[in-house]
Amino acid sequence: MKRKTRPLARILSIRNRLTRRYRLFELRSDFIDEEIAVKKARGNGTCRTIAICNQKGGVGKTVTAINLSARLAAGGFRTLLIDLDPQGHSGLGLGLDIDRLEHSVYDVLVNGRYSAREAIIPLRSNLEILPSNIDLASAELELARFKKRERRLKRVIEGLRESYDYIVIDCPPSVGILTVNALVASQIAIVPVTPSRLPIQSLSRVTEVLEALKESLLLDITVFYLITLFDRRPKEARSRRENLEQTHGQHLLKTVVRNNTRLDTATRKGLPIFDYDRDCPGSQDYAALAEEIIALESGQDRGADRRILE
Ligand SMILES: Nc1ncnc2c1ncn2[C@@H]1O[C@H](COP(=O)(O)OP(=O)(O)OP(=O)(O)O)[C@@H](O)[C@H]1O
Ligand SMILES: [Mg+2]
Repeated sequence: MKRKTRPLARILSIRNRLTRRYRLFELRSDFIDEEIAVKKARGNGTCRTIAICNQKGGVGKTVTAINLSARLAAGGFRTLLIDLDPQGHSGLGLGLDIDRLEHSVYDVLVNGRYSAREAIIPLRSNLEILPSNIDLASAELELARFKKRERRLKRVIEGLRESYDYIVIDCPPSVGILTVNALVASQIAIVPVTPSRLPIQSLSRVTEVLEALKESLLLDITVFYLITLFDRRPKEARSRRENLEQTHGQHLLKTVVRNNTRLDTATRKGLPIFDYDRDCPGSQDYAALAEEIIALESGQDRGADRRILE
């Protein structure tokens, strides 16, 4: 006679089979508590906007925007990634053919011919993108004729707030009108910095620009610095990191993103790191970053130790 399986045991066995096959529940489970905590802390439906910016190129803005968004989405947060860079790297890094977009952020922000909803592309569960391409290159010039040109993205986002928990904006490597639009629309700015390459003076310049913008536009934004592409071997990088801790300690995120070639390969393949290699250092670091951002929101202690997963 066939033995009857009890319902709970059956559910657990199906869950284990699915976990083994898709690693689905594992990915979500470490997030569920934070998700509940955050939603309790700030009430359902409050959308937070995060601009990833630095006028310096190649510091990991796009890789951070992609993987932070993907991790938040995997944690159950409805997430929109807005690509504000005419290079369109966020879309590329998530597998889009950006030369064949029907509509892009340009149509929404600059010529206003389409609504954001018409241009947004769903990518996977909880993750959508408002993509960009070379069309946006003329934005700096074209936006100059508008009054309140620095508030255009904010207005677009106001119409979307109900639909998302997080909006992450990937900025171009300049502090022109596009980056200013991102900062005006955001509550948090994350400035990726690379201690192995960055002269400290260049970070001071970013800080000065941000402070000047905060004052002149009365921005209500908190700035955090994120160490990326960190390679602890050169002594110089370690001492620069210590220097950053002394000068920007309060505003330096505890997560440190290590230099990890898997991140580069995943982006070239059009995948978030979690879909490419979920155990590599890049996955661990961006998972830690998402947790830290969530903890910021829920007012939890970010912990005393700088988070370098070694
Ligand atoms: N932690 C990392 N480890 C290894 N490679 C990385 C890491 N972060 C970014 N990269 C690689 O470094 C290069 C620059 O990264 P990314 O495109 O994210 O920088 P960016 O600041 O967005 O550049 P831009 O200013 O041109 O938009 C890319 O080739 C990317 O794949
Ligand atoms: Mg970029």
